[in-house]
Amino acid sequence: MPPFMEPFRIKAVEPIPFPDAGQRRAALVAAGFNLFRVPASAITIDLLTDSGTSAMSAAQWSALFSGDESYAGARSFDRFERVVRELTGYPEVLPVHQGRAAERILLHRLLEPGELSVANTHFDSTRASVEAAGAEALDLPVPVEDDTPVPFGGDLDVAALDRLLHGPDGARIRCVVLTITNNARGGQPVSVANAEATRRLCTEHGVPLLLDASRFAENAYLVRARSAEHAPRTPREVARLIFDLADGCWASLKKDGIANIGGLIALRDPALATRYRDQLIETEGFPTYGGLAGRDLDALAQGLLEVVEPAYLRYRAESALWFADLLEQAGLPVLRPTGCHAVYVDAGRLLGHLRPQELPATAFANELYLAGAVRVTELGTLVFGRPDPAGGPDVPAPRELVRFALPRRVYTASHLRYVAEVAEQVAAKAAAVPGYRIVRQTGALRQFAATLEPLGGT
Ligand code: F0G
Repeated sequence: MPPFMEPFRIKAVEPIPFPDAGQRRAALVAAGFNLFRVPASAITIDLLTDSGTSAMSAAQWSALFSGDESYAGARSFDRFERVVRELTGYPEVLPVHQGRAAERILLHRLLEPGELSVANTHFDSTRASVEAAGAEALDLPVPVEDDTPVPFGGDLDVAALDRLLHGPDGARIRCVVLTITNNARGGQPVSVANAEATRRLCTEHGVPLLLDASRFAENAYLVRARSAEHAPRTPREVARLIFDLADGCWASLKKDGIANIGGLIALRDPALATRYRDQLIETEGFPTYGGLAGRDLDALAQGLLEVVEPAYLRYRAESALWFADLLEQAGLPVLRPTGCHAVYVDAGRLLGHLRPQELPATAFANELYLAGAVRVTELGTLVFGRPDPAGGPDVPAPRELVRFALPRRVYTASHLRYVAEVAEQVAAKAAAVPGYRIVRQTGALRQFAATLEPLGGT
C-alpha cells in the first residue's frame, strides 16, 4: 500500500490566530481558566471536538447551491432520503437539526417512567434524554483492564445484558442501544460479532435494538482493520452488516455526515416512524426538512457518500495513529489502541503530583493552551466528578483523561506536529504544573460554565 497522506488538496483556506504568550494568559484569565469560555479568536489549533467542525468538500459546497428550500416535499429531502436508505437499509428517514434532537424525539416517545435503556455506553446527551423521560440509563460496557489494548473496547457486555434480561429488572428494559463508535470509551469500535450477540438477546426477549450511529463509518473502518473476517469487505458493506442487525438508528451527522449541522432518525417500522413524525413537527419542523435548510440536506447527502470512501477512512485512522505516536514520543501517556475521532491522554499519570480533586486533566489542558493556544477537552473530574453533597472535596472521576479530538479534513500533518511540540514543552515541565480549584459552578454540565483558579494563585 502507498504511504498514507491527506487524500485531498486544499481549495479554500482560513487564517488561524497566533495569540502571543501575554494574550494567551489574558484570554485564559478572562475565561475563568475554563477553555469552553475562551473565544475561538484566541485559539491556534482547536481540538475541542470533532462535532460540526468538519471541512466540506468542493462537491458538498456545490451541492449546497442546488438546495431546494421548499417548505414541503423538497428535492433536497429526496436526495437525503435516498442516500440514507441505501446506506442503512431503513425505509423511514426523518431529518433533525442535530443528534440530541433525534435522541429527544426518539427516546422521549419510546420510554416510560421507570423503564430502562441499556447501552454499551450512553453518550451524555443520550443519557440526558433517557433521564428526561423519567427512565434510567444503564451502561454495560465490556470490562477492560486499564491500559490493556483490546481491539473492540467499544463492545457491550453481552453476558451482563443476558443476566439483566433474565433477572428481576429484565421486564423494565425498553431498548438496547449500541453507540458506534463508543465515544465515551475512547471512540473504540463495536464488533459485528458483538452486535450479532446483542441482536440475538434482543430478539429472544422482544426488546428493540437501536444504534447511535454518529460515527458509523469510523466504526466500520475499525472493524475491517481489526478482524480478518471482515477485512475483504468495503466499509459500506461492514456498516450495512451492523445496520441490518438493528431496528433503527439515530445519528448526529455533525460527525460522519462531514457537515457542520444535521442529524437523523432512520427506522424499519412505519408505525413507529409515524409517531415520531408527529413529534418532529412539534419540535423540529415539517418532516421533509426537520430543522435544517434544504441545502444542509444536500451537503449531508454528499458527505454521507464521501465518509465511507476507503481512502478517506484510511487517512482518518492512520493520521490518528500517527498523531498518537507523536504525542507518545513527546512524553505523553497515550491510550491504545487509537480510534479515529480523537487521541486520549492520561493526564492523571502525566501529572502524578496532583490529586483528582486538584483537577489534573483541567490543569494539563490549560497548560497546553498557555504553551501554544491549543484547545483540547478535559474528561476528568471537572466533567465526570460530582460535587460532594456534604460540601467536602469532589467525588473524583474514574480517570483523568484529556481528549485531542480531530476535526475531519481540517488540520494537516504539520498542524498536528505543532500540537505535539507544544505538548512536549508541557510534558517537560509536568512536575511544575499547578492544580486547580473550582471557584463557581452550576449544577449538571458544570464544565461548560464553571470558573476556576490555579492553586497557588494566578
Ligand atoms: N451521540 C454521540 C455518540 C455523540 O458523540 C454526540 C455528540 C451526540 C450523540 C450528540 O450529538 O452534538 O449533534 O447533538 N458528541 C460531541 C462530542 C458533542 O464532542 O463528542 P449532537
